[in-house]
Amino acid sequence: MTSVSRAASKFGEWVGLTGAPGFFKSENVIDLIIADHREAESLYDKYKATTDQDEKQLIANNLVKVLVKHDECEQLLVYPLLREKIGGERGEQLYERSLKEHQDHRELLYDVKCTSLKTDPEFDAKLQKAIDSVFHHVKEEEEEVLPLLREHVTEDELRYVGTSFKAHKPLTATRPHPSAPAQGYPAALANVVLKPIDMVRDMLEGH
Ligand SMILES: [Fe+2]
Ligand SMILES: [Fe+2]
Repeated sequence: MTSVSRAASKFGEWVGLTGAPGFFKSENVIDLIIADHREAESLYDKYKATTDQDEKQLIANNLVKVLVKHDECEQLLVYPLLREKIGGERGEQLYERSLKEHQDHRELLYDVKCTSLKTDPEFDAKLQKAIDSVFHHVKEEEEEVLPLLREHVTEDELRYVGTSFKAHKPLTATRPHPSAPAQGYPAALANVVLKPIDMVRDMLEGH
């Protein structure tokens, strides 16, 4: 446990979940990240495949939620690990680029959530723009960032962070909040405040 990256684990330790992960099966965080990416792609395929407007809206809502939760977990648990383990200018550059692209997603997904398929003829285009940005980032992540993590981080550490990643997922906000902090304890506290508000708004939207 002591060998685990402090940067990656400190948030998980703070929320008290990584010390008692018995009910969370240990999984490599890279596998969890890739599974989230495939889920997002599959949801977007379903969105494009259906012509039923209500179903499309529900899929879009779910897709945004999946992406927000995924980005939140990466920001808190994976990118600090990336910066620490790669180190130097390269680590810093990858860290800053990843956060910047996530901030772009927050803003684009926020534009999507401010409107709806029934009321806005531009809804499809707004979603497409957000998804294009997300999938570009996903490609970079899988081709560049994740291989570096696999190279620089031990399997035990990747599994430890995977446990935190899985444990944190249910605690995150579910809607994009472009002005909320994206890192460390301020981000964790923002999640505590925003999560219940998001849950109510999600319920009112029927998901
Ligand atoms: Fe990702
Ligand atoms: Fe990411």
